[in-house]
Amino acid sequence: MNQNNKPTIKDVSRKAGFSITTVSQILNHKGQRFPPETQRLVQAAAEELGYVANFSARNTRLATQQRTIGVLVPQIQNPFFGNLFRGIQDYIYNEAIDAILVSTDSDQRKAHRYLEHLIQRSVDGFIIATQLDSQDPLLQKLQRMHIPYVLLDQNEGDEVGDQIIVNEQQGGHLVAEHLAAVKQGPIILVVPQQQSSNIQTRIAAVRAGLAQHQIPAAAIYDYQVADLTKLAGTAVGKQIMADFAGVSALTIWAVDDEVAIGITKAIQQAHKQIPATVKLMGYDDTDYAEYLNLTTIHQPITTMGHKAAELLKERLEDPTRLRQVIINDVKLIQRGSTK
Ligand code: RIB
Repeated sequence: MNQNNKPTIKDVSRKAGFSITTVSQILNHKGQRFPPETQRLVQAAAEELGYVANFSARNTRLATQQRTIGVLVPQIQNPFFGNLFRGIQDYIYNEAIDAILVSTDSDQRKAHRYLEHLIQRSVDGFIIATQLDSQDPLLQKLQRMHIPYVLLDQNEGDEVGDQIIVNEQQGGHLVAEHLAAVKQGPIILVVPQQQSSNIQTRIAAVRAGLAQHQIPAAAIYDYQVADLTKLAGTAVGKQIMADFAGVSALTIWAVDDEVAIGITKAIQQAHKQIPATVKLMGYDDTDYAEYLNLTTIHQPITTMGHKAAELLKERLEDPTRLRQVIINDVKLIQRGSTK
């Protein structure tokens, strides 16, 4: 350890059992010529000691030079995450911070691979909107290596990193209240097969709200989509149109705008009218919703991205600050699709 009790490269060398030269080259991404096991042992020793290559130089870089953050989202093709990144980008542009955006396809293995690669590239901090278990070893690795991160959206939080939360209880109850007010015919809920914790909370609140509005369970039908895409929405919409071909009026809520937009295509292909015969509602209020006259719940997406970047920048500058948890309200945006 050095005079600040920080592990040195000599400590890593001793622990790993390799020369300082070998350790230095591996930790500075010049060690490709060494056997993978050697590289693994050196990385493991550095991690276990909490060694950060040239700690003082890294701090100097953090304080005076351009920093880089990693942003992990589950589906880059979904405009929700595009809008989220827009907010991040708007904030970091004036803060001498660059961002590397990666889409994990809601796949934990891909999330782990991207995180590992970005850690090896000495990324200074992370904004993580993709689902990771609160005890995920990579979150613990970031803690050990003193690499800050902000968690939000599909990531349920880990009680350690700063977190931005949306009031999904409020959102679900607003959906239920609106459905009860405008409903015509059976109510159909379109939900994903795999549900992140925020979406689970949202759906549970919709169901609780419908019950509170005395909507009988017999009047509510569930359909599942494989993922949160327009394509999946159209597929499930076709099934709904077939199953309810003989029903004169329907009310459909989709778990997000992407799925709702996909359902719109199936409704049109079935030659049914929105809202005359099918009332349709989504969730998010992405850019498309306005142009498709879609009733939805507004999430402050860009604002959340902006705030996440601000929290991370503040954490980079003061690693010891108190953990921040920001809760955002949502609101109903009624448009023509449920009039
Ligand atoms: O459209 C993507 C959905 O998944 C949004 O509702 C957002 O909250 C994310 O969790």
